[in-house]
This record gives sequence, structure tokens and C-alpha cells, in this order.
Amino acid sequence: MSERDDHSGARERASRLLSPEVLGADGPVDATLRPRRLDEFIGQSRLKENLKIFITAARKRGEALDHALFCGPPGLGKTTLAYIIGNELGVEVHTTSGPAIEHRGVLAGLLTSLEEREVLFVDEIHRLNPAVEEYLYPAMEDLQIDVPSGAGAFAQTLRLGLRPFTLIGATTRSGLLTSPLRERFGIVERLDHYAAAEITQIVERSARIMEVAVDAEGAREIGRRSRGTPRIANRLLRRVRDFAEVQGDGRITLAVARHALGALEIDDLGLDPMDRALLRAITEKYGGGPVGIDALAASLHEERDTLENEIEPFLIQLGLVQRTPRGRVAMPAAYRHLGLPDERGGQRTMF
Ligand SMILES: Nc1ncnc2c1ncn2[C@@H]1O[C@H](COP(=O)(O)OP(=O)(O)OP(=O)(O)O)[C@@H](O)[C@H]1O
Ligand SMILES: [Mg+2]
Repeated sequence: MSERDDHSGARERASRLLSPEVLGADGPVDATLRPRRLDEFIGQSRLKENLKIFITAARKRGEALDHALFCGPPGLGKTTLAYIIGNELGVEVHTTSGPAIEHRGVLAGLLTSLEEREVLFVDEIHRLNPAVEEYLYPAMEDLQIDVPSGAGAFAQTLRLGLRPFTLIGATTRSGLLTSPLRERFGIVERLDHYAAAEITQIVERSARIMEVAVDAEGAREIGRRSRGTPRIANRLLRRVRDFAEVQGDGRITLAVARHALGALEIDDLGLDPMDRALLRAITEKYGGGPVGIDALAASLHEERDTLENEIEPFLIQLGLVQRTPRGRVAMPAAYRHLGLPDERGGQRTMF
């Protein structure tokens, strides 16, 4: 499947262990760790309960499931859910992505090839081009598309009926979705970062599949530093397993996890060197801010887009950085985390 064709930023930064984006090495392993049934999907309980009801109802009626849209940050399970829905409905999932549907003809081909009740999964649906998007509206709403027929003076359009199908859209940027498109989804769900206990469970489940022995504290330690993101948790688990196998007896204990994560330079809050460099730049170079994102990007030799979409959100979520109209500001928690006296010259306090 071609779910990843636009994350060039992640590719450039392939060494960043904590990127929530798919990195080269994730691919095949990601697939084996992917839950196949709704019951195996950990966390997001409200969303799961809702889906269970919608799926059961659609099955009972023998109808296609309503079109569903999943929004949320990378690595939280949107693609996984699309495949789970296919499994639960017992139908095929056809995968494409917004940028891959270059023109109406491609979309018409995809739609007309769907068998009754099958799923068309459109990843990065916010990147559909407007002409294609408009063409999708009547397909979603009335199961109809217009196709050109004949040529030259005899050219006309033919209205074609489609078999009932389910469109599943996924987007990391729900703000970029147009409202006419959003309104055509009967099911709209947002995925949020996972709670610590859930991520720990995900680490434990993945460890079972990978046949790695991990104790409860070891799993918790890996989970705690995974930014609430299953994809990162799985990646860290693989790296910690390397340390356990090479330097220990293969078991992941708290001590092994701590040692490995320390060696990988991932700190207690789950920050990596890039995160800390950003905090240092604001606190030390720019006196705590406010500092514009472009100045920060320049001083860190990073793309502005990467800072804004990949690095900053988690620092903001932790209350370390704030976005203000005049720029980024370091919060007292950032000073504490770096072990610096805070911006008002207060006492140095550590966590
Ligand atoms: N709830 C979950 N329980 C267990 N594992 C999960 C869960 N959610 C995600 N994963 C794991 O995390 C990996 C990443 O999930 P997925 O590819 O579905 O994310 P995504 O939201 O589609 O990300 P992107 O926006 O980058 O496409 C999966 O391979 C799967 O193993
Ligand atoms: Mg995905």
C-alpha cells in the first residue's frame, strides 16, 4: 500500500527515533504488530464502542457501513482501524491516498471496481485535489458518478450507478478538510494520544507477538517515554530488545529499559536530543522567547514544517512551550526539565 508517499520530512530525518511518522525500518514489523480485530485494538474505548455498534448494525441490515473519517496525529491507529473495519465487515479494503488520486478518471476506476459493501480507504484525504474531491460528493451521497462517453461532437456524460460502498478517510490535518467533504461522512472520529496504561498494554501485546520477555515495569518504562503513540512504542520496544539481547539475557526489565533508553538519549519525559535542542534554543539563545518559528528553524538547521508539525506539538502538550502570537515561549516546566534557573531567576527546581 502507498500510505506513506508524502512524508518526505520523516524520510530526511530517518534517524529520529521518536518521529511519529513511519520510518523505513517500521514497515514490515508495523504490519505484524497491527491488531486485526476490534477487540485486539487497545484504548480509544469510546471510539471502539461506537464502531462496534455501527459495524454490528450494518452487518445485521446487510448494508454498507456509513462513510467514516478518522482524524488525529500520526501513528495512533487510523490505518489500523480501516483494516479492522474491513475484517469485521468481512469485506475487502482497497487502499489509496489523496495525492495518489491524480484525476477524476483514477477515482472513477477505483469506485467502479468496488464490489458491494467493500471499503475504499483514502489516506491523507485532506490532500485530494479539489476537482477530484467534488467528483467524490455524489459518489458518497447518491452512489452516482458522471463519466464522459464518446468524443468530439458526440461527447456526453453518462450517469453511472455505483454499488453501495464505504469510504474511509484518514487525515492528520483535519483542519485542512473542506466542510462539504467532512459533512458527507456519517461517522467522524478523532483519535487522541494514548494514556500511559494503554501504551503499556500495547508494549506488552507487541512484546508477546515478537516473543520478547518484558516485565511490567520494563513495559511501563518504554510506554512512558513513547509520547502516547503506539508506533513510537513499538519502535522503542524493538530498540530496547536489541540492548536486552546484546548486553543482557534478552529480558526487558526496568533496569534494561532505563539503560537502553538512556543510551538512545530519550529522557524521562520522552524527549529526544532534538526536542531538548529546541528547548535550549528558546531558553538559552533567545532568553525564553518569544521567538519566531523561522528564527528557531534557522538556528536548529531544521525545516520549519518539521518543527511545527512534529516536534513542537508534543512540547506544547507537555506544557514546556507555548505558542503565542509573537512567537514561541519557554514555560517554567521547560527550565525545570533542563535543570536551569527559570526565566525570572528563580530557584533551580528539578522534577
Ligand atoms: N490501539 C492500538 N493497539 C495496538 N497497536 C496499535 C494501536 N494503534 C496503533 N497501533 C500500532 O501502531 C502502528 C501505527 O498505527 P497506524 O499505522 O494505524 O497509524 P496511523 O494513525 O495510520 O498513522 P499515519 O497518520 O502515520 O498514517 C500500527 O502498526 C500498530 O501496530
Ligand atoms: Mg496511516
